[in-house]
Amino acid sequence: MTRFALDGLVTLITGGGGMIGQAVARRLAAGGARLALADRTAPPAVGTTSTSYAADLCDAGAIADLVASVLADFGQIDCLITAAGITSLGSLETLSYEEWDRVHNINLRGVFLANQAVMAPMKRQRFGRIVNIGSVLAKNGGNPRPWIDPSEQDHAGNAAYGAAKAGVHALTLYLAKEVAAHGITANVVAPGPIASPMTTSFPEALVRQIPAGRLGQPDEVAACVAYLCTREAAFVTGEIIDINGGLWMD
Ligand SMILES: NC(=O)c1ccc[n+]([C@@H]2O[C@H](COP(=O)([O-])OP(=O)(O)OC[C@H]3O[C@@H](n4cnc5c(N)ncnc54)[C@H](O)[C@@H]3O)[C@@H](O)[C@H]2O)c1
Repeated sequence: MTRFALDGLVTLITGGGGMIGQAVARRLAAGGARLALADRTAPPAVGTTSTSYAADLCDAGAIADLVASVLADFGQIDCLITAAGITSLGSLETLSYEEWDRVHNINLRGVFLANQAVMAPMKRQRFGRIVNIGSVLAKNGGNPRPWIDPSEQDHAGNAAYGAAKAGVHALTLYLAKEVAAHGITANVVAPGPIASPMTTSFPEALVRQIPAGRLGQPDEVAACVAYLCTREAAFVTGEIIDINGGLWMD
């Protein structure tokens, strides 16, 4: 039995400097992928073949330039992982229009732009793997239980975040159908709370809602992303795969 094949796959990771982006980068590098890591500031290199790029991943022009640079540097883009994102906390009642737009600009619009930008090169190659990072918060109405403890509302992602991630889930299903006949798959990995800067203020009472009894680890997300990038995963598309310790089951 050989290892799952990632050898030589050129992989663009947005949010490549973040906790999950770096964990995905380490996994893929260990499997032999060649990495293009993009973030607000050029992320730390991972492995021996990674190249780092600085880009505002809400900006259509910056994303077009990024994809052109990766194609110039590597000659191809086989996989795209969208792991750039921001969190947003607090109640819907006090959510400002500005905050709604700030969250949607990167968490949904940024994913749309990156997905769209790699479609043409992947179609030319007749190969592609797109993995968008979604969230359990797109499915469960959020983790806070204000009817038990109103203060929980301040500590776990809000409606703008959940709505943007639900948009990512839906976008990915449309994408999966549009590109399926071109050798390209598109899937979502939807984590629950993962130990990262996004969950530093996550209360113990909310952790106790997770049947596994703990936060997830970035590498537990990365392992699933890595599988979806392999050549063997060619028949897995349009899936939303939950990694949440049982917090939400569907
Ligand atoms: N940590 C969690 O509990 C959790 C749970 C579910 C989903 N997610 C999702 O996973 C993804 C990665 O999150 P993480 O935990 O690694 O967080 P993180 O904050 O460590 O990483 C996010 C990265 O995105 C980058 N980024 C944000 N806006 C950007 C912009 N405009 N241009 C360029 N880069 C930008 C940040 O600089 C950062 O490096 C996000 O989409 C997040 O919503 C995280």
